[in-house]
Amino acid sequence: MTSKPLFRALPGADALIDISFNDGPLRVPGGRSVAAALLAAGIDRFRATPVSGAPRAPYCMMGACFECLVEIDGVPSRQSCMVTVRDGMRIRSQEGARDLPPVAAASLENAHGR
Ligand code: FES
Repeated sequence: MTSKPLFRALPGADALIDISFNDGPLRVPGGRSVAAALLAAGIDRFRATPVSGAPRAPYCMMGACFECLVEIDGVPSRQSCMVTVRDGMRIRSQEGARDLPPVAAASLENAHGR
């Protein structure tokens, strides 16, 4: 007995594109999320936890767990399962807690200036 597949590839899913991960070149299938493309390329460590540095990788693949955070084209804390991979993307693993941008850090003062 055969059944109809639950999943269908997006248009362009078979075309290979060039990206980089942690400064290393990768050729991955397009037409899918960054997380799916990296997993297909054998990447299994996407980030490290801020407290213990434990390795993490995508879990839910639908934007709920935040285990797939990476830096994409210089922007940290991107959910790689929610971003479509594009040719030329520069992706880096996210190591620990990211720094607050200067504007956000300045706005942490309360009304009493503390
Ligand atoms: S894998 Fe869960 S939010 Fe991306």
